[in-house]
Amino acid sequence: MIHFELESDRELLSSAMEFAQNQVRRLVEGRPDFSPMYTKSGIWRHDGPKWTNWCDGFLPGMMWIFRKYELERNRESKFWLDNAIRYSEPLEKMKDDEEVHNLGFILFPTFHRWYRLTGDRRLRDVLIQGGRTLGSHFQEKGQYLRSFVGDNSLFIDLMMNVGLVLYAARETGDRKLREVGLRHSLTTRRVLVRGDGSVAHEGLFDTATGEFLRQTTHQGYRGDSCWSRGLTWALYGFTRSYEFTRDPHFLDAAESCADYYVTHTPDDGVPPWDFRAPLESRKQLDTSAAAIAAAGLLRLCRLIADPVKGHFYWTTSIRILRTLCEKHLGTDGEWEGVVKGGVYHYHKGLGVNESVMWGDYYFVEALEQSLRNL
Ligand code: GLY
Repeated sequence: MIHFELESDRELLSSAMEFAQNQVRRLVEGRPDFSPMYTKSGIWRHDGPKWTNWCDGFLPGMMWIFRKYELERNRESKFWLDNAIRYSEPLEKMKDDEEVHNLGFILFPTFHRWYRLTGDRRLRDVLIQGGRTLGSHFQEKGQYLRSFVGDNSLFIDLMMNVGLVLYAARETGDRKLREVGLRHSLTTRRVLVRGDGSVAHEGLFDTATGEFLRQTTHQGYRGDSCWSRGLTWALYGFTRSYEFTRDPHFLDAAESCADYYVTHTPDDGVPPWDFRAPLESRKQLDTSAAAIAAAGLLRLCRLIADPVKGHFYWTTSIRILRTLCEKHLGTDGEWEGVVKGGVYHYHKGLGVNESVMWGDYYFVEALEQSLRNL
């Protein structure tokens, strides 16, 4: 059991980083090569289905963050380097996988971090190929990247993946590929982001005509509600599309989503699993949405022209991290994840009120980013 008795945010967040390293080390040493998605009663052991394969990059992604964090402090980090490589290498084959829409979720935390640490061009080639593969999902008629569900389906989650298409376009100068990334982001903004900044999870199209038909959901409460993780995927994803393109529409969309998040989330910064679920069910939080929001706001705050608003996003992110550290860490001995209180699939009862690997990953990413500036 650890106690956070120290006052300052820097000390609080550094302690959480140390705790996260201990939890991940425990999993890697206890069950080598196991890459779980969510815990069951706090233990990384689930017999429920994965629904779709999108999470394998997050565990090695944390290892790359730890490697960099320790390296910058001149501390021993070979354990993290060796394991980050060991867990990342098997994912290389995903660069050619045309079934999933999750190549950004898989390759950004792994090969992109690995490439930025080493500059090895072979790693950049993997990212470029992954971007091209994802770009091949583009539906000319509706102007979007199709989800794994079918040609007629656009997911908000794809905003976290389209960055890989834009990355590949930038690295190769491929204008057609850049157009695919731009079009997808614009279509998502048009059909899934609402006027008040809330978002829908999925959009359905008529594949024969490209006509947009309606908003719907898989993991949210219902088609016209706002699934909180979907909102934070949009916040973070539009920010990254802006980073790659400098198209002001994407900055505008990211800000709308951020503002919806801030104005609809309780003061401590952790939202319910769906903002429009019935009151009783809204008691179930999703800490993973909070972690993604914290990481996304740290990116967004650097891009905002208005320094007051940029500072507001920064302090909101720190407030979220403080809450996660003080109220939601799995510090009670048996618990194996880093952050408690995440939700994978509420309707299917998968990973509800558990640790989820992406929640831990974005929490660690936000810790590392914020500790650069505290
Ligand atoms: N399907 C991605 C997610 O659960 O957020």
